Amino acid sequence: MRRVRLLPLHVLVLTSLLPLGREALPVVINTWPFRNASAAAWSVLQSGGSVLDAVEEGCARCEIEQCDGSVGYGGSPDETGETTLDAMIMNGDTMEVGAVADLRRIKNAIGVARAVMERTDHTLLVGESASVFAENMGFIAEDLTTNKSVNIFSQWLKGNCQPNYHKNVFPDPSKSCGPYKPRVTLEQRRRQDNMLSHDTIGMIAIDQDGHVAAGTSTNGLTHKIPGRVGDSPIVGAGAYADSSAGAAAATGDGDVMMRFLPSYLAVELMRAGADPSAACKAAISRIKRHHSEFFGAIICANTTGHYAAACNKAPGLSQFRYMVSNSESNTPLLKTVDCF
Ligand SMILES: *[C@@H]1O[C@H](CO)[C@@H](O)[C@H](O)[C@H]1NC(C)=O
Ligand SMILES: *[C@@H]1O[C@H](CO)[C@@H](O)[C@H](O)[C@H]1NC(C)=O
Ligand SMILES: *[C@@H]1O[C@H](CO)[C@@H](O)[C@H](O)[C@H]1NC(C)=O
Repeated sequence: MRRVRLLPLHVLVLTSLLPLGREALPVVINTWPFRNASAAAWSVLQSGGSVLDAVEEGCARCEIEQCDGSVGYGGSPDETGETTLDAMIMNGDTMEVGAVADLRRIKNAIGVARAVMERTDHTLLVGESASVFAENMGFIAEDLTTNKSVNIFSQWLKGNCQPNYHKNVFPDPSKSCGPYKPRVTLEQRRRQDNMLSHDTIGMIAIDQDGHVAAGTSTNGLTHKIPGRVGDSPIVGAGAYADSSAGAAAATGDGDVMMRFLPSYLAVELMRAGADPSAACKAAISRIKRHHSEFFGAIICANTTGHYAAACNKAPGLSQFRYMVSNSESNTPLLKTVDCF
């Protein structure tokens, strides 16, 4: 997957001329250069929609466009070749959250997440049951497989199922496709696939009145063990929003990142007075202490619409790009931050 892409020169010049810290409300910020998602969310706010509508529309745009192959149908097939989706949406006014994980056969994962929030007392529905719920709510069941995902899957099978996320099992997962059984002797094996398929859309929207919402959508990690759920649908990990403090959304190696609740941490730091940049950096630093080379980034915004991002310098990630839409311009702006 193309991760390090070159930045068009004119965009570089434009972004470098923009003064930092002068941004006004409303604002939409999202991970990665998913421009159409940003534009979609922005136009919802401009036409009077709520921040929840904006986040839902923005993330849904990525689900339709299959952003980077890592959001929506037809990407990141698991060990059985199936694409499953994770998504979450959070209302920073009420602290309500709706999320789905391991969602099968339904393309509009963020829409189902919102239905969980608005049409149940629950927070997170998973797997087959989440799909049944979605169908009952009127979402259409469709095959999420595409020729592309079939191809990714068959290449993986041909390559002895590498990368492979089993450990402490036999036969040796660095050479074989399983099935695997537990092993008595512990055998540590470093994960090989640091760089692939961790893109996720995470989005924050704040309107003129300071209503804050955040959301995420992803198809997870390619070749994951079926049932694996990453950070995206986990509150405080993939995203967090609190209209009294701000919002954050994270992207990267979810298996590691979710153990540190980076989005929650960043929002709490902003509540305690940290500016968005310091909050983002602190959330990354916390993970870095234990995983110096983890692949990941986070975006942060406080209640006045000031925003920042931070990323961990790792093989394949020296800069992180994200999108911002606000009243500065009519078009989403591509922002770049150097990783540390
Ligand atoms: C973004 O939207 C434009 C206009 O609808 C479309 O032509 C383009 O293909 C979209 N970009 C992506 C990456 O899907
Ligand atoms: C997918 O592959 C099948 C053959 O395996 C082919 O008939 C079909 O046209 C392909 N679809 C697309 C969209 O490329
Ligand atoms: C948000 O952060 C900016 C610095 O980037 C700071 O000037 C502003 O006061 C902060 N807003 C709040 C509500 O803390």
